[in-house]
Amino acid sequence: MQWDESLATGCSVIDKQHKELLKQVNKAIKAYQEGKAKKEVETTLQFLEEYVHTHFSMEEQLQIQYQYPNYKKHKKMHEYFIKEFIEIKQKYKQDGPRITITLALNRILITWLREHILKMDKDLADYIQLQ
Ligand SMILES: [Fe+2]
Repeated sequence: MQWDESLATGCSVIDKQHKELLKQVNKAIKAYQEGKAKKEVETTLQFLEEYVHTHFSMEEQLQIQYQYPNYKKHKKMHEYFIKEFIEIKQKYKQDGPRITITLALNRILITWLREHILKMDKDLADYIQLQ
C-alpha cells in the first residue's frame, strides 16, 4: 500500500512521518514476502517498532502541548497498535515465515490507515490548525 494525498492530515510534521512509516511497513512486508533471511526481516521489524514509538511519542507530545481533548483516547489507540505489532514480531521470532504474519501486518496497516490516520490523526491536525 502506498501513501497518497488522500492520507494527508494537513500537518506536515505528522504527514512526513506517516510517509516514512508506510515506507517501512512496506519494506518489512516485502522483505518477508521475498523470503529474505530471518535476520533481515527481524531487523526491518525492529526498525519499524522503533519508528512507531518515535512517531507516536511525537504525536502525543503535540497533543499535550496543544491540550488536545482526545489525548487519552488517541494514546490508547497508539498503545493498542504497539501491542499488536509486538505480538506479530514475537510470532515471527517463534514460528518464522508464515502467511499469517503477512496477513497480520497487512491488517494492522489497513486499520492504522483507515481508522487511525483518516479519523484520529486528521482530527488532531484539524484541532492544532485551529489553535
Ligand atoms: Fe496517531
